[in-house]
Amino acid sequence: MVKRTVGSQSEGLARKTASNPIAVLVVHGPNLNLLGEREPDVYGHTRLADIDKELKQLGRELEMKVETFQSNSEGAIVDRIQNARGKSDVLLLNPGAYTHTSVAIRDAILAVDIPVIEVHLSNVYRREAFRHHSTIADVAHGRIMGFGAESYSLALRAARTVVESSRKPSD
Ligand code: DQA
Repeated sequence: MVKRTVGSQSEGLARKTASNPIAVLVVHGPNLNLLGEREPDVYGHTRLADIDKELKQLGRELEMKVETFQSNSEGAIVDRIQNARGKSDVLLLNPGAYTHTSVAIRDAILAVDIPVIEVHLSNVYRREAFRHHSTIADVAHGRIMGFGAESYSLALRAARTVVESSRKPSD
């Protein structure tokens, strides 16, 4: 976990996050680069670039520094998660179809020991049975799904709470 300065709980939050914002990495998996064009009835009309832009804007409001990354490749996602070690306080992760298959992404999460919020645009439980299994659900801090693009902003707000509540007074 990244070290940060703390004051007393209430007056301290704004001060410490302004100078030392919570570092958030958002990772989007395969085919999410096509959001807006891809199956809009399932995933909506919002493009990935707009989701990322909105997350960065919301991040500024919440005093969080948001970095985003998308790849269609499992290995690149594993590399990016490994690279977040010691740098990011929390991950928002939508592994796309790798959600249902990837042991490598699960292992990367365990290796870096950074809290993860699993995010999905669609409610996978309203869909095909093969989407009901997630290899990362039990190693994620929590899961948010079914709200379209808004799943990400809900997850960002939740991420702030996760990091703040994990801080010890001496951090
Ligand atoms: C998804 C759900 C997955 O089942 C699917 O393969 C995706 C997107 C979602 O955000 O709803 O690519 O992760």
